[in-house]
Amino acid sequence: MAPPLDDTQCLLTAASKGLARAAASALVDAGARVTIASRSPENLATAREAILEETDAASDAVRTQVCDLRSPEEITQLVDDTVAAFGGLDVLVTNHGGPPVQSIADTTVKEFDETYELVLRSTFATLRAALPALADGGGSIVNIVSATAPEPTAGDVFQAALRPGIYGLSKSLANEYGPEGVRVNCVCPRGITTERLTEKIDHLAETEGVSHEEAEAMRAAELPLRRLGRPEELAGAVAFLASDEASYITGETIGLDGGWSRGAF
Ligand SMILES: NC(=O)c1ccc[n+]([C@@H]2O[C@H](COP(=O)([O-])OP(=O)(O)OC[C@H]3O[C@@H](n4cnc5c(N)ncnc54)[C@H](OP(=O)(O)O)[C@@H]3O)[C@@H](O)[C@H]2O)c1
Repeated sequence: MAPPLDDTQCLLTAASKGLARAAASALVDAGARVTIASRSPENLATAREAILEETDAASDAVRTQVCDLRSPEEITQLVDDTVAAFGGLDVLVTNHGGPPVQSIADTTVKEFDETYELVLRSTFATLRAALPALADGGGSIVNIVSATAPEPTAGDVFQAALRPGIYGLSKSLANEYGPEGVRVNCVCPRGITTERLTEKIDHLAETEGVSHEEAEAMRAAELPLRRLGRPEELAGAVAFLASDEASYITGETIGLDGGWSRGAF
């Protein structure tokens, strides 16, 4: 039997490290070809090598392209070059560098504008550029967002203000592009061990005056599963949503958060 994503062409943004890098590996492992993009050619080369080693895939399974998500021109170029190289596009995984945790009093309007460009405008620009190719034959979009966004917490202005926009956009596009065979979903992580989380745990250790291991245990204790997640656990969900196994799922938001979100719906 052919692998579930055989002959599937994918694009992943902000994908040299962490969650999107793991998602790229899961997609390649399921038979897909991917373009991974980020700001750093060095990080992309390292990621490409690691994905090929993990999956034992042919060397043309992973393309890399430098793209700073703060530039709408670079985003358009990324999508155009990927579609030209692959002869189409079936799966788009949007991701972006995580914004800092800041209160409204500590955030200038300029900082807000810059973070809006990275988080919400980049997602809009990527979706806008990729939708014509995805609608040509149907496809799947998976947006990597955050479990914190639907349940805004105090002192976290960027999560509260910018990420809910990605949910709204996803739901709207699921309605608009469903008739074209394009499915649009969000995955919402929390507590998954990437470089970003390690930095946050180091910060917690410093502010609480505890060791890294103790700070990690404090983070795990807030989750019903009482442990942090692994990037592969989110990656599996992305590969599932990308595949035909999820062919009747669209407009959904799926938590990858060890049970952190407490809402019943
Ligand atoms: N880990 C979690 O549990 C968790 C929880 C909630 C939300 N999230 C969100 O999920 C997303 C991914 O998190 P992560 O933990 O995987 O983060 P990460 O390990 O820090 O990786 C971030 C990725 O974004 C890329 N990037 C950053 N700024 C960019 C830019 N301007 N243009 C293009 N690429 C850029 C980085 O690549 P280069 O440096 O090579 O450009 C890197 O590949 C973030 O938005 C984060 O806030 C994660």
